[in-house]
Amino acid sequence: MQTVAVVGAQWGDEGKGKVVDLLARDADVIVRFQGGNNAAHTLVVNGDKFVLRLIPSGALHPGKTCVLSNGMVVDPIALLDEIDSFKRRGRALTPTDLKLSYDAHLVLPYHRAIDRGREARAGKFAIGTTGFGIGPAYEDKMARSGLRFEDMADAPRFAEKIERNLREKNLYLKTLLKVQPLKIKETIDALMAARRRIRPYLCDTAAFLHDAIADGKKVLFEGAHGVMLDIDHGTYPYVTSSNCGASAVFGGAGLPPGKLDAVLGISKAYTTRVGAGPFPSEISGRLADSLREEGAEFGSATGRPRRIGWFDAVLVRHAIRLNGMWGLALTKLDILTGIDLLRVCVGYQIGKQRYDEIPPSRAMLTRAKPVYEELPGWTEDVSTATSLEQLPVNAQRYLDRLRELCGVRLAMIGVGPARDATITLENPFVA
Ligand code: GDP
Ligand code: IMO
Ligand code: MG
Repeated sequence: MQTVAVVGAQWGDEGKGKVVDLLARDADVIVRFQGGNNAAHTLVVNGDKFVLRLIPSGALHPGKTCVLSNGMVVDPIALLDEIDSFKRRGRALTPTDLKLSYDAHLVLPYHRAIDRGREARAGKFAIGTTGFGIGPAYEDKMARSGLRFEDMADAPRFAEKIERNLREKNLYLKTLLKVQPLKIKETIDALMAARRRIRPYLCDTAAFLHDAIADGKKVLFEGAHGVMLDIDHGTYPYVTSSNCGASAVFGGAGLPPGKLDAVLGISKAYTTRVGAGPFPSEISGRLADSLREEGAEFGSATGRPRRIGWFDAVLVRHAIRLNGMWGLALTKLDILTGIDLLRVCVGYQIGKQRYDEIPPSRAMLTRAKPVYEELPGWTEDVSTATSLEQLPVNAQRYLDRLRELCGVRLAMIGVGPARDATITLENPFVA
């Protein structure tokens, strides 16, 4: 297949970065199409750890083109920091390697201040955002008051637009949110300095992609977050402010509908979530603590401990159906080693009614009691397995049951954080 999208099938942090890094070997172009630096994708290559926030997870492979397309909201200062940190680690990203859409929106310092100010005031109603200004930046995009990278073309007008917005936002910060307003000159100076360095990377990324596809290049679209954090299909309002599924590739990158050949969903062999909101299969206590430790389940963006739960087949099926997933990559099977009895959520009890599919209102998930199926665990180390046959029988049985419950092929199984700690059953680029 020529064009493949990788999307999270849970609440984010499923291991998309690792899978994208692996598949990027077979791709020519790797594209982020939504979200911003609220994403944090961790790659482990030759023992070195890299956390990518804005730059697509294919960037460690020389000779590939990485694209930040129009559907993203990009903090220019965070992007330059990321480019600099790549350079310090020996990988200079030139405008040939990295292309940023003129149409992408800027995340500005006032968006971060508003995000944080609102969360601080929300008390028990807080969403638990990353605090990186993502929601306020998408709000401005929809309100048509946002700044786009295109606005950088004309320096005086760029500065004027920032100032106009900043005066209004400062009023909001001071009088409503009761937080410190931002200094106008300092903010503009920092953005003008960023402007000079960012401009060479700007590109009509939709046209670039059309040409690349016409030339037979393979394109990998890297989703951020996960379907349950999707603004339309997730657990609203405990979601992020973008569409996180494969449908966002079309609006967010300018790919014509019908040109996407496959969607690969990524799911952990259990479930995690950062931030507030319903989580029917959540567990607590010693098992949750040990899974958190073993699985290093601390947010790479904010360091927050991730909430832990059993695999929820109802939610993953919802994600598969919404995205027409061709297959699923199941990560972190190794972390389940050593648990006597594994549980899989196969339905919900809500009041007197049993639901085998996601209930009609997402808010009902708050009251959902999980219905579990139990499967025997395994104690053998799986981290060096390179084929299904090398896995313990009970691990194979667990995978078989998940495949059956999800109704989709398992394309890859993750058995460790390293790039190659993966059992690849089917690679969408060679399928
Ligand atoms: P993303 O946001 O979906 O890219 O996921 P994150 O990178 O935020 O979180 C996934 C974490 O799990 C990272 O620390 C990865 O290095 C790690 N990881 C990914 N796949 C596996 C796996 O199969 N086994 C183990 N043990 N760790 C994995
Ligand atoms: P990756 O790409 C996990 C969550 C936040 C919060 C909610 C809203 O690494 O999988 P936001 O800052 O987006 O307004 O926060 O969404 N969230 C994520 N959780 N992984 C992510 O990205 C996330 N991106 C946003 O924790 O609950
Ligand atoms: Mg992450």
